[in-house]
Amino acid sequence: MEEWGQNMAAVRVRHAQLARVLGKASQFFPGVMHMHELLIQLSDHHTVTYIHSLRSARLAMAFASRLGLEMEDTDVLICSALFHDAGKIRIPVTILDKPGPLTAGEMGMIRQHPVQGAQIISAISSFPAVREAIYFHHERWDGKGYPAGLSGLNIPLVARVISIVDAFDVMTSARVYKPKAGVPWALNELQGCAGSQFDPQLVEVFMTMFKKNTERVGEHEYEPGGAGGGIPARS
Ligand SMILES: [Fe+2]
Repeated sequence: MEEWGQNMAAVRVRHAQLARVLGKASQFFPGVMHMHELLIQLSDHHTVTYIHSLRSARLAMAFASRLGLEMEDTDVLICSALFHDAGKIRIPVTILDKPGPLTAGEMGMIRQHPVQGAQIISAISSFPAVREAIYFHHERWDGKGYPAGLSGLNIPLVARVISIVDAFDVMTSARVYKPKAGVPWALNELQGCAGSQFDPQLVEVFMTMFKKNTERVGEHEYEPGGAGGGIPARS
Protein backbone atom coordinates (compact mmCIF):
# COMPACT_ATOMS: atom_id res chain seq x y z
CA MET A 1 0.00 0.00 0.00
CA GLU A 2 2.81 2.34 0.91
CA GLU A 3 4.55 1.48 -2.37
CA TRP A 4 1.33 2.25 -4.33
CA GLY A 5 1.14 5.63 -2.59
CA GLN A 6 4.74 6.37 -3.53
CA ASN A 7 4.08 5.37 -7.15
CA MET A 8 1.04 7.64 -7.33
CA ALA A 9 3.04 10.52 -5.85
CA ALA A 10 5.73 9.97 -8.50
CA VAL A 11 3.09 9.93 -11.28
CA ARG A 12 1.59 13.19 -9.97
CA VAL A 13 5.04 14.83 -9.97
CA ARG A 14 5.67 13.62 -13.54
CA HIS A 15 2.31 14.98 -14.74
CA ALA A 16 2.92 18.33 -13.04
CA GLN A 17 6.37 18.60 -14.65
CA LEU A 18 4.95 17.66 -18.04
CA ALA A 19 2.14 20.22 -17.74
CA ARG A 20 4.75 22.87 -16.94
CA VAL A 21 6.90 21.84 -19.93
CA LEU A 22 3.91 22.00 -22.29
CA GLY A 23 2.77 25.32 -20.84
CA LYS A 24 6.21 26.88 -21.32
CA ALA A 25 6.61 25.48 -24.84
CA SER A 26 3.13 26.49 -26.04
CA GLN A 27 3.94 30.22 -25.83
CA PHE A 28 6.26 29.78 -28.83
CA PHE A 29 3.41 28.62 -31.05
CA PRO A 30 0.66 30.75 -32.57
CA GLY A 31 -1.91 28.36 -31.11
CA VAL A 32 -1.60 25.48 -28.69
CA MET A 33 -3.01 23.09 -31.32
CA HIS A 34 0.02 23.73 -33.55
CA MET A 35 2.26 22.44 -30.77
CA HIS A 36 0.10 19.41 -30.02
CA GLU A 37 -0.21 18.52 -33.71
CA LEU A 38 3.58 18.48 -34.00
CA LEU A 39 3.91 16.35 -30.86
CA ILE A 40 1.30 13.91 -32.19
CA GLN A 41 3.14 13.70 -35.52
CA LEU A 42 6.37 12.94 -33.67
CA SER A 43 4.66 10.37 -31.46
CA ASP A 44 2.97 8.66 -34.42
CA HIS A 45 6.18 8.58 -36.45
CA HIS A 46 8.60 7.41 -33.78
CA THR A 47 7.40 6.94 -30.21
CA VAL A 48 10.94 6.45 -28.88
CA THR A 49 11.95 9.92 -30.13
CA TYR A 50 8.73 11.42 -28.75
CA ILE A 51 9.37 9.98 -25.26
CA HIS A 52 13.03 11.00 -25.46
CA SER A 53 11.88 14.55 -26.32
CA LEU A 54 9.55 14.74 -23.30
CA ARG A 55 12.27 13.42 -20.99
CA SER A 56 14.86 15.81 -22.47
CA ALA A 57 12.55 18.78 -21.90
CA ARG A 58 11.94 17.80 -18.26
CA LEU A 59 15.65 17.30 -17.73
CA ALA A 60 16.35 20.67 -19.41
CA MET A 61 13.89 22.32 -17.01
CA ALA A 62 15.77 20.91 -13.99
CA PHE A 63 19.12 21.86 -15.54
CA ALA A 64 17.93 25.43 -16.27
CA SER A 65 17.21 26.06 -12.60
CA ARG A 66 20.72 24.82 -11.66
CA LEU A 67 22.21 27.12 -14.30
CA GLY A 68 20.22 30.11 -13.03
CA LEU A 69 19.07 30.97 -16.55
CA GLU A 70 16.85 33.99 -17.16
CA MET A 71 13.17 33.15 -17.54
CA GLU A 72 13.26 33.82 -21.29
CA ASP A 73 16.27 31.53 -21.87
CA THR A 74 14.65 28.86 -19.69
CA ASP A 75 11.47 28.92 -21.76
CA VAL A 76 13.44 28.82 -25.03
CA LEU A 77 15.47 25.91 -23.64
CA ILE A 78 12.40 23.90 -22.61
CA CYS A 79 10.67 24.42 -25.96
CA SER A 80 13.83 23.67 -27.96
CA ALA A 81 14.54 20.54 -25.92
CA LEU A 82 10.99 19.36 -26.55
CA PHE A 83 11.37 19.79 -30.32
CA HIS A 84 15.10 19.31 -30.80
CA ASP A 85 14.56 16.07 -32.74
CA ALA A 86 11.44 17.17 -34.67
CA GLY A 87 13.47 16.73 -37.87
CA LYS A 88 13.40 12.96 -37.32
CA ILE A 89 9.79 13.05 -38.54
CA ARG A 90 11.36 13.21 -42.02
CA ILE A 91 13.65 10.21 -41.49
CA PRO A 92 12.24 6.73 -42.25
CA VAL A 93 11.63 4.59 -39.16
CA THR A 94 13.62 1.78 -40.82
CA ILE A 95 16.71 4.00 -40.45
CA LEU A 96 15.87 5.32 -36.95
CA ASP A 97 15.32 1.75 -35.74
CA LYS A 98 18.04 0.01 -37.72
CA PRO A 99 19.73 -2.34 -35.26
CA GLY A 100 23.09 -2.50 -37.02
CA PRO A 101 25.52 0.18 -38.20
CA LEU A 102 24.19 2.82 -40.60
CA THR A 103 25.49 3.26 -44.15
CA ALA A 104 27.13 6.58 -45.08
CA GLY A 105 23.92 7.62 -46.85
CA GLU A 106 21.76 6.76 -43.83
CA MET A 107 24.10 8.62 -41.50
CA GLY A 108 23.91 11.58 -43.90
CA MET A 109 20.12 11.61 -43.45
CA ILE A 110 20.47 11.43 -39.66
CA ARG A 111 22.89 14.36 -39.73
CA GLN A 112 20.30 16.44 -41.58
CA HIS A 113 17.74 16.22 -38.77
CA PRO A 114 18.80 19.47 -37.01
CA VAL A 115 18.36 21.36 -40.31
CA GLN A 116 15.04 19.64 -41.01
CA GLY A 117 13.86 20.28 -37.45
CA ALA A 118 14.67 23.98 -37.70
CA GLN A 119 12.70 24.14 -40.97
CA ILE A 120 9.69 22.37 -39.44
CA ILE A 121 9.64 24.74 -36.47
CA SER A 122 10.14 27.83 -38.66
CA ALA A 123 7.05 26.91 -40.66
CA ILE A 124 4.78 27.09 -37.60
CA SER A 125 6.60 29.34 -35.13
CA SER A 126 8.60 32.52 -35.60
CA PHE A 127 11.00 32.52 -32.65
CA PRO A 128 14.61 32.65 -33.95
CA ALA A 129 16.12 31.46 -30.63
CA VAL A 130 14.14 28.19 -30.71
CA ARG A 131 14.96 27.59 -34.38
CA GLU A 132 18.65 28.32 -33.69
CA ALA A 133 18.85 25.97 -30.71
CA ILE A 134 17.34 23.13 -32.74
CA TYR A 135 19.61 23.85 -35.72
CA PHE A 136 22.80 23.83 -33.61
CA HIS A 137 22.08 21.08 -31.05
CA HIS A 138 24.61 18.69 -32.62
CA GLU A 139 27.50 21.15 -32.73
CA ARG A 140 30.51 20.20 -30.59
CA TRP A 141 32.65 22.34 -28.31
CA ASP A 142 35.74 21.40 -30.40
CA GLY A 143 34.07 22.37 -33.70
CA LYS A 144 33.76 18.80 -35.00
CA GLY A 145 29.97 18.69 -34.83
CA TYR A 146 27.30 19.39 -37.43
CA PRO A 147 25.65 20.98 -39.39
CA ALA A 148 27.75 24.20 -39.18
CA GLY A 149 30.94 23.12 -37.36
CA LEU A 150 30.66 25.97 -34.83
CA SER A 151 32.90 25.73 -31.76
CA GLY A 152 33.04 26.91 -28.15
CA LEU A 153 31.02 29.95 -27.20
CA ASN A 154 30.04 30.52 -30.84
CA ILE A 155 27.48 27.76 -30.29
CA PRO A 156 24.31 29.30 -28.79
CA LEU A 157 24.05 28.58 -25.05
CA VAL A 158 20.70 26.79 -25.34
CA ALA A 159 22.10 24.47 -28.04
CA ARG A 160 25.10 23.67 -25.78
CA VAL A 161 22.73 22.79 -22.95
CA ILE A 162 20.53 20.62 -25.17
CA SER A 163 23.52 18.66 -26.50
CA ILE A 164 24.23 17.55 -22.90
CA VAL A 165 20.69 16.57 -21.89
CA ASP A 166 20.16 14.91 -25.28
CA ALA A 167 23.30 12.74 -25.04
CA PHE A 168 22.63 11.91 -21.39
CA ASP A 169 19.05 10.81 -22.02
CA VAL A 170 19.99 8.70 -25.05
CA MET A 171 22.78 7.00 -23.08
CA THR A 172 20.47 6.20 -20.16
CA SER A 173 17.71 4.74 -22.37
CA ALA A 174 17.64 1.51 -24.33
CA ARG A 175 17.46 1.73 -28.11
CA VAL A 176 17.24 -1.08 -30.67
CA TYR A 177 20.90 -0.52 -31.49
CA LYS A 178 22.23 -0.21 -27.91
CA PRO A 179 21.48 -1.15 -24.30
CA LYS A 180 20.62 1.27 -21.51
CA ALA A 181 23.51 2.67 -19.47
CA GLY A 182 23.32 3.53 -15.76
CA VAL A 183 23.40 7.17 -14.67
CA PRO A 184 26.91 6.94 -13.09
CA TRP A 185 28.27 5.46 -16.31
CA ALA A 186 26.64 8.17 -18.44
CA LEU A 187 27.89 10.96 -16.15
CA ASN A 188 31.37 9.54 -16.42
CA GLU A 189 31.08 9.55 -20.22
CA LEU A 190 29.88 13.19 -20.21
CA GLN A 191 32.81 14.14 -17.99
CA GLY A 192 35.20 12.35 -20.36
CA CYS A 193 33.83 14.39 -23.27
CA ALA A 194 33.82 17.76 -21.44
CA GLY A 195 36.02 20.14 -23.39
CA SER A 196 35.83 18.08 -26.60
CA GLN A 197 32.17 17.39 -27.31
CA PHE A 198 30.55 19.43 -24.53
CA ASP A 199 30.96 22.80 -22.85
CA PRO A 200 33.07 21.85 -19.78
CA GLN A 201 31.46 24.39 -17.46
CA LEU A 202 27.97 23.20 -18.31
CA VAL A 203 28.98 19.56 -17.76
CA GLU A 204 30.27 20.49 -14.31
CA VAL A 205 26.91 22.04 -13.38
CA PHE A 206 25.06 19.05 -14.82
CA MET A 207 27.12 16.69 -12.63
CA THR A 208 26.04 18.57 -9.51
CA MET A 209 22.42 17.61 -10.19
CA PHE A 210 23.36 14.00 -9.46
CA LYS A 211 25.80 14.60 -6.63
CA LYS A 212 24.47 11.92 -4.23
CA ASN A 213 23.92 8.30 -5.11
CA THR A 214 20.30 8.59 -4.02
CA GLU A 215 19.47 11.70 -6.00
CA ARG A 216 16.83 11.62 -8.68
CA VAL A 217 16.41 14.16 -11.49
CA GLY A 218 13.26 13.76 -13.55
CA GLU A 219 13.10 10.07 -14.41
CA HIS A 220 16.83 9.68 -14.11
CA GLU A 221 17.76 7.93 -10.91
CA TYR A 222 21.35 7.57 -9.81
CA GLU A 223 21.43 3.79 -10.10
CA PRO A 224 24.31 1.73 -11.39
CA GLY A 225 23.86 -0.79 -14.18
CA GLY A 226 23.65 -0.95 -17.94
CA ALA A 227 26.32 -1.77 -20.42
CA GLY A 228 27.20 1.71 -21.64
CA GLY A 229 28.64 1.80 -25.13
CA GLY A 230 29.60 5.46 -25.64
CA ILE A 231 27.60 8.47 -26.78
CA PRO A 232 25.55 7.33 -29.78
CA ALA A 233 26.14 9.17 -33.06
CA ARG A 234 22.42 9.15 -33.96
CA SER A 235 20.90 11.05 -31.01
FE1 LIG B 1 19.29 15.22 -32.28
